[in-house]
Parts: sequence; C-alpha cells; structure tokens
Amino acid sequence: MTAILLRGRVLSFRSRPRDREDHASYLYETDGGILIEAGRIVAAGAFTDIAARAPLDARIVDHRPLLLMAGFIDPHIHFPQMQVTASYAANLLEWLNTYTFVEEQKFAEEAHAQRFAGLFFDELLRHGTTTAAAYCSVHKASADAYFAEAARRNLLMVGGKVMMDRNAPEPLTDTAQAGHDDTLAVIETWHGKARNHVAITPRFAITSSPAQLEAAGALVQKFPDLLIQTHLSENNDEIAYTMELYPEAKDYTDIYARYGLLSRKTLLGHAIHLSDREMDAIAEAGAVAVHCPTSNLFLGSGLFDLKRIREHGIRTAIATDIGGGSSYSLLRTLDEAYKIQQLRANRVPPIESFWQATRGNAEALGLVHKIGTLEPGTDADIIALDANATPAMRLRMETIGSLEEELFLLQTLGDDRAVRHVYVAGSPV
Ligand code: GUN
Ligand code: ZN
Repeated sequence: MTAILLRGRVLSFRSRPRDREDHASYLYETDGGILIEAGRIVAAGAFTDIAARAPLDARIVDHRPLLLMAGFIDPHIHFPQMQVTASYAANLLEWLNTYTFVEEQKFAEEAHAQRFAGLFFDELLRHGTTTAAAYCSVHKASADAYFAEAARRNLLMVGGKVMMDRNAPEPLTDTAQAGHDDTLAVIETWHGKARNHVAITPRFAITSSPAQLEAAGALVQKFPDLLIQTHLSENNDEIAYTMELYPEAKDYTDIYARYGLLSRKTLLGHAIHLSDREMDAIAEAGAVAVHCPTSNLFLGSGLFDLKRIREHGIRTAIATDIGGGSSYSLLRTLDEAYKIQQLRANRVPPIESFWQATRGNAEALGLVHKIGTLEPGTDADIIALDANATPAMRLRMETIGSLEEELFLLQTLGDDRAVRHVYVAGSPV
C-alpha cells in the first residue's frame, strides 16, 4: 500500500490547554505534513521534516491552505433520531413521549435500520465527525445495522443497543433478561470486529427497572473494559420523576452508582442539575459529564455548569445529542457551548474548545491511543477545514491574523461547509 503525505496547516493537541497562552499544549505547523501508511499516522510535523522521512513513492496530496486536524468525535448521539430533530416540544419528557418514542419504534424493522445506518454515517462524515458514541434503539436489529455499516466503511464507532423495559410504548421495551441477552449478543458479535466498540447502554433510570439496571451492572462486571452510556439530570421534571421511581437513592447519580454503573467508563449525557455531592461522586468515579449544548438549549433543559464541573475535577466531553440537538456539526456545537458559558460568565478559549472536540473527547472515550490526535501510531482519521468556506467567513478572514482567531471564526460561523476533506483510516471519503 502506497504511503500518503498530506500537506497543509497541521494542528494536533498534546494536552488540554490550560489557558490561551498554553502553546505547548498543541502542535501547529503553518507548512505541515502528515505521513500515513496502512491507515495509520507515521509522523506529523513540519512538511520538510516529514517529507524527508517519506518513502520515495509516497503520494503527496496538497491541501494548503486548509487546516488539517484529527476528525471530530461526537460522544453522545442517537442513531434512530435523524427524523426526530426539529420536533416542537415544551420539554424533554414531552419530546420523548410525543416524537422520540414513536420514531424509534420504526427501527424494529431491519430494512429501515439499514437504510438509516447509511444515512447516519453519511451525515456524520459530511460534518467531519469520524467517530461517534451512539445510542441505537431498543431493537437488536438496530445495533446490528449500525455496526455492520460502520465495519463496511472501516469507521471507528461506539454504539449500544438501548436497554429500556418500562415507561415507554410496549414495542419499544425489552425486559431485564432480554435487554441483557441482546446486549451480550451484540457484544459478542461486534465488539472488536473491524473498528467497532460496543457500549452498555441503559437509556436512563426512568425507562429501566431496578432489575434491568442490575442486569446492566452484571454486564459491566463481565465486560469491565466496555464503555457505559446513559443520561443524567437533564431536566427538573425528569429528576423529580426519577427520584419517585428510586426513593431509596440519595440522588439521581446514586442510582447508577448503586448498580455498579458509575465508573471511569461511564458517559453521563447532560449532567446539568447536580448537587455538590453528586459532582464529588462523579469525580471520584472518574465518569464523564457530556455537555450537549444545542440539545440543552433546544429542549430548554438548562445551562451546563462547566466551571463547577471542572472545579470538582470531573472529566468532560462535548456532543451533539441529535435528535434533541439541533446540529450534527461539532463546530455549531462548540459555538453554542461557548454562548452557554458566556451566560455563566465563563469564557472558553477556542483552543480549548477544539481540544475538547478532538483529543478531549477521545480521552473521554478512553480511545486517545487510537483517535483524536495526529500522534504517530494512531488511526488516520483526519479532516481538512476551510475558514474561507462562505462569503461571510471569507470577509471576516480578511482581518484575521492568528490561529486562535481562525479557530474562533470556524466555531462561530462554520458548519459542514467548512469541512472540505475527510480521511477515514487514511482513505479519502
Ligand atoms: N433521556 C432519555 N432518552 C433521551 C433521549 O433520547 N434524548 C435526550 N436528550 N434525553 C434523553
Ligand atoms: Zn441523549
């Protein structure tokens, strides 16, 4: 297989930027190169250095003046909700019952799930998202379709068959036993096949009986390396109902902890309305709070408290939460997150936002040895971004002189139009 040498401006994060001046936290080369062989990154740095190391027959692809970086990672998204986005609802529970639990029933049908698996990955890639952690539907067929399509495209995808055995329409429920057995079958069929990663996925405490959370906990015991994904404290009515269902728990977070579902592997979608006790418990467990800004604004759920989350030492991620979210674009998502933090008097530097959408999200998934950076040995999932993608962006670019300003423009005005090229494991898509 011929080596590929990409040329362009190259950006890759080494660590979370502590502040705007933390230039050591990233590699930035204005004339950079990325050498790729057999789907992996061999080296990234100054073009002349990388070119000197490249095999003589390496194919050079010149992307100047585009910005080359690791593909975006979306660590919380719902595969069966492509036709739920833009549904008009007052709040989370109305939105779930009126639209979401209706739409997801269609994924019982294999042909429907297969069609949408293709559409889903098309849409992610168009937006520069090369890895996602997705909730499939309750139906095993939806997870089979999701992972089969990811394998066919050689994409690194995380996903899980949703476990839900109550408080939803009958066609959208399993049982504690069936949820366990189907999840086990999905793990055995798909985990580690091609680039697939299976996550244990109890939807949230409202739709899982104590017996089902116990069954999910048993799966965690059996497969301690697997990710766990669920929802936590998104909406005040949700929290009140949850505590009625689990009166013995100290709080919402404690429900998951009691069933062995709160660990370093746990992705907690939303995590908006949390007490200090809950934040301490989440930090101690090493679980991840996943901010879903466009969803939180769209459903009126609340404003993620990044400053308090950080002060408590909680690991973070940022995600779209389609179909509660209103954009597939991580750029749009960073913009909305920035605005939410502005309302909380907590200004986030763009360099930190771009770390979060790439390396930060990879760390949250425990996959930074494979994705999220341009480090040697990692998979070559790479995007080329264009800060001149639209007339409005081009005009603003006339006055821009630094990387920081360019990143801020990309996140403020950018969307799928700014994603000019996408490479998956070294191959252009
Ligand atoms: N809580 C439980 N299920 C869901 C879902 O599908 N979307 C969102 N935003 N919150 C949830
Ligand atoms: Zn969600």
